[in-house]
Amino acid sequence: MVEARNSIHGQWSSRWAFVLAATGSAVGLGNIWKFPYITGENGGGAFVLVYLLCIAVVGVPVMMSEIMLGRRGRQSPINTMRTLAREEGRSGGWQILGFSGVLAGFLILSFYSVIAGWALSYVVSAVGGTFTAITAERSGEIFGELVSNPGVQLFWHTLFMGITMFVVARGVREGLERAVRLLMPALFVLLLVLVGYAMNSGGFMQGVHFLFDADFSKITTDGVLIALGHAFFTLSLGMGAIMIYGSYLPENVSITQATFTVAIADTVVALLAGMAIFPIVFANSLEPGAGPGLIFQTLPVAFGAMPGGLFFGTLFFILLVFAAWSSAISIIEPVVAWLVESRGMSRKRASIVSGLITWLLGIATVLSFNLWSELKLFDKTIFDLLDYLTTNIMLPLGGLMIALFAGWAMKNSHSMGELGLKRSGYKIWQILVRYVTPVAILVVFLNKIELI
Ligand code: PFF
Repeated sequence: MVEARNSIHGQWSSRWAFVLAATGSAVGLGNIWKFPYITGENGGGAFVLVYLLCIAVVGVPVMMSEIMLGRRGRQSPINTMRTLAREEGRSGGWQILGFSGVLAGFLILSFYSVIAGWALSYVVSAVGGTFTAITAERSGEIFGELVSNPGVQLFWHTLFMGITMFVVARGVREGLERAVRLLMPALFVLLLVLVGYAMNSGGFMQGVHFLFDADFSKITTDGVLIALGHAFFTLSLGMGAIMIYGSYLPENVSITQATFTVAIADTVVALLAGMAIFPIVFANSLEPGAGPGLIFQTLPVAFGAMPGGLFFGTLFFILLVFAAWSSAISIIEPVVAWLVESRGMSRKRASIVSGLITWLLGIATVLSFNLWSELKLFDKTIFDLLDYLTTNIMLPLGGLMIALFAGWAMKNSHSMGELGLKRSGYKIWQILVRYVTPVAILVVFLNKIELI
């Protein structure tokens, strides 16, 4: 059986608090900003189907494993992996998973905060009536003005980092839990309101067909790989974020149930976002494959034209900021927990230090859209490179290590006891983490390496 270990950072007050927090981590820019545009770029329904499959056969087993390792280790990912490896009589080298997670945390949050900053600035534009009766051309210009202005982006990036680190500094019970308790239900309600609007937009059925009619001639091998990579990003897997949330999970909570709840909630939000966005895109003859600028360039046009657009536009961007906020908190939490544990810092100090480093790194992303836009490595700007390095390399590698550790390095009796599954359920999980997941991740990884 599992020996009792307690996290020095506190514990969730209930199963529900964990599910809310993990859902808050999973649901973010990945669902609302990234999922719609990569779905648009990859032809719709068939891509969505492959993505759902990836969530089910790779995302779910890795999430179960990551929560399990976290709850068993009860420390930051670096120290959890050291403790667990020792306990299983394995090499201390497994700690590298924790270190790569800390690095990935800094890198992901540095650009995530800049994009979230765009969303913050759009709240102000929306509420100020900037989008009222706006043309597509003008909307593109406004987005262009934002990304070409380093000072303005720096301001919003700074504000977003500020609110993120404020919550992180207050700690698990004080900050994270209270914040997500409020944020997650609000997010669901706001999305439902938007889907409700989309139903009457005139483009609803077209949007639904686009999302759910699987035409496999439209999906490429690259599309399959993008779907698999996105499964990691959207479920916050492979860098210790879900592991650290798992370390705050009470002993008596079912990991399997919690995983299914989070994965389903994350998927539902992505699909709801798609169902809110694509009908608006089609009703206004906009382009589904517009790329990363999809929501920032095209939605203001829709909001500007619809009745009550000021209200709905403002709500939408507030929703996006909330979603990004609760994800950002989880991206940096492994770093902060590690600084507290191993560097003897107070939580407040650890938050300030890690926030400042991330903020500084974020300046590179801000500049990559303007002054440094010509600065390229492997034909990518700094922002593209950071996104590529983390999403396509670091997260899948982290996920691979998690699957291998949970599936092969850990004793069956340990993983079985922690997961609390019946024999047949345990066998399915084991086959997935031992064979299916590693093979799928290696395919993604090798393919991406080839593309460099
Ligand atoms: N899952 C978040 C999203 O979909 O926006 C992003 C994310 C959070 C990635 C936490 C990685 C992570 F560790």
